[in-house]
Amino acid sequence: MKASNSRLFLTYSIIVVAVIFSMGRIIIPLLSGSERTIAILTFLGGLIIFFVIIYNIFEKYIKPVRSASLVAEQLVKGNYKARTYVSQYGEAGKLSNTVNVLARSLQEMTIQEKIQGNQLETVIDNMESGLMLIDERGFVHLVNRKFSAIFGRKVSDYIGFLYYDVLEQENIHKAVQEAFLYEEKVKNSFTISMEIEKRYIEVVGAPIFNEKKALKGAVLVFHDITGLKRLEQTRKDFVANVSHELKTPVTSIRGFAETLLDGAMEEKELRKQFITIILTESERLQALVHDLLELSKLEQDELKLNLKVIGVSSLFNTILPIVKHQAEQKNISFSATIDNTIEMYVDPERLKQVFMNLLNNAINYTPSSGEVRLNIHLVDGFVKITVSDTGIGIPEEAKNRIFERFYRVDKARSRNTGGTGLGLAIVKHIVEAHHGTIHVESEVNKGTRFCVLLPSQ
Ligand SMILES: Nc1ncnc2c1ncn2[C@@H]1O[C@H](COP(=O)(O)OP(=O)(O)OP(=O)(O)O)[C@@H](O)[C@H]1O
Ligand SMILES: [Mg+2]
Repeated sequence: MKASNSRLFLTYSIIVVAVIFSMGRIIIPLLSGSERTIAILTFLGGLIIFFVIIYNIFEKYIKPVRSASLVAEQLVKGNYKARTYVSQYGEAGKLSNTVNVLARSLQEMTIQEKIQGNQLETVIDNMESGLMLIDERGFVHLVNRKFSAIFGRKVSDYIGFLYYDVLEQENIHKAVQEAFLYEEKVKNSFTISMEIEKRYIEVVGAPIFNEKKALKGAVLVFHDITGLKRLEQTRKDFVANVSHELKTPVTSIRGFAETLLDGAMEEKELRKQFITIILTESERLQALVHDLLELSKLEQDELKLNLKVIGVSSLFNTILPIVKHQAEQKNISFSATIDNTIEMYVDPERLKQVFMNLLNNAINYTPSSGEVRLNIHLVDGFVKITVSDTGIGIPEEAKNRIFERFYRVDKARSRNTGGTGLGLAIVKHIVEAHHGTIHVESEVNKGTRFCVLLPSQ
């Protein structure tokens, strides 16, 4: 029995004892002899019966009700772990049961609420977009982790401040003002300098209303659209480059055809010269279209490689005679050191394309009486293929760009050699599809060395 319950029980007992004792004091002096003894025994018996009754009432009714009311008090205070002692008798028993069921449901509800709250917090914090919540007066109430990563300050530097005091971008201010003014979703974008690069951020502002449709604030979502912007730019550049590259031979073909029709056809010498130009230009056009188709095929995600195990010697058997012939014609000395024991698991046709491109470049960009070398050997489980020349070299700033489509260091020179500027872009795609790498070392007027590493088998 708890102290307060014992005290109550004691109080009731004292009252009963006092009442029976007073009755005894009044009645017993009026009696005599055996009557007196009977009366004393009756009072004592009554006293015991009263005690038993009080004890029972106390245990079965008063104690459970008091315990239930204490638990109800705890529940009001938010302590949902509180439980009452369960009596097995009648209405008091039902009451304590119900109180316990109520406490359990409240506890479950708070646990659920906590889980949901945690889930929401996790989602908000791990979103790929920045998030900011402001109230109708412009005070920031919530920002997530991505938001602070975009703007570069701690979460606590924003919460509780006016948005225009902590964010300087005019376009964000505009988005908030428009969301408040027009009470509808608005979009805007701005740039922000992060470390060394510029990022493009799109902000979407949406007003928040309460049940009575009154404006309560705004939520702003920030998307980093730098990747998309870059892609858009690459596409624009590509389309511009393709049109430009196609325009040159087409203009030339058309020009010479018109000149022929205007009378040049009559002169045998001119006719031959112009038709030869038309033929060369149409070959260029054909090469360009072929390379573009090749590249678009390679860029499809599901580039299918026709992989098979092949010895290095048989891979180069068909390439070397052509390259030797080209080198001879330009009076370039060509040498190949090949470890013929190497076997590779590759797409032979695609790899031939790679080495033809690299060797053609080496010959094309090396003046006569220069040297071109091909070297193939195994290094740490990789097949290392190097193509080096003693040619014009590639300037430092161009090294990273030569693998881009249409990039040529010296446009006029490359065009003279029939180049489309797509060769190395194709090479890189094929090497990467084989899980290999390619890199270039070069010094202007000294020479260039391309190095391809492919996994052996
Ligand atoms: N061995 C090399 N020495 C010097 N410059 C090179 C060498 N290989 C490539 N380059 C430079 O890189 C540019 C891109 O080469 P790439 O092979 O992609 O195009 P291309 O040779 O101009 O045309 P094609 O698509 O017909 O091969 C070339 O225009 C050239 O300026
Ligand atoms: Mg080339």
